[in-house]
Amino acid sequence: MSSILVLNGPNLNLLGTRQPEVYGTTTLADIENLCADWAQSEGCSVTFEQSNHEGVLIDHIHAARGEHQGIILNAGAYTHTSIALMDAIASVELPAIELHLSNVHAREAFRHKSYISKVAVGLISGFGAHGYVLALEAMKQHVSH
Ligand code: DQA
Repeated sequence: MSSILVLNGPNLNLLGTRQPEVYGTTTLADIENLCADWAQSEGCSVTFEQSNHEGVLIDHIHAARGEHQGIILNAGAYTHTSIALMDAIASVELPAIELHLSNVHAREAFRHKSYISKVAVGLISGFGAHGYVLALEAMKQHVSH
């Protein structure tokens, strides 16, 4: 059975009330439920985590080695700044998918740069909460080949 870590970075705990015109009104708990429903119907295991702290996110990535077959990472703003998160993904040698609710390339120029893209197998951006399900499907497919 594949086991996938879904890791969420800073400010994503505020989904639902945070800039709903950009991120919608779905809460992070709603997204966690979407992922749990997907896991049940696909016979996969999904672990869902969120932290506002870069080091805690890195610890989750390190702990994924030997526990999970892949990582889906919405690193929030750390996407655009964190060499440390990029290095953590590269270090554990697990496939990672970069995920964003919004289409980062249709937004401010500073969101067009991603350190995570350099170490990710692919990127899903702009499909809101449904992007989590798309990423899970893509990861399931990726790890089964
Ligand atoms: C985000 C996009 C990032 O640029 C932003 O800093 C976030 C959320 C997204 O899911 O669209 O916090 O990762």
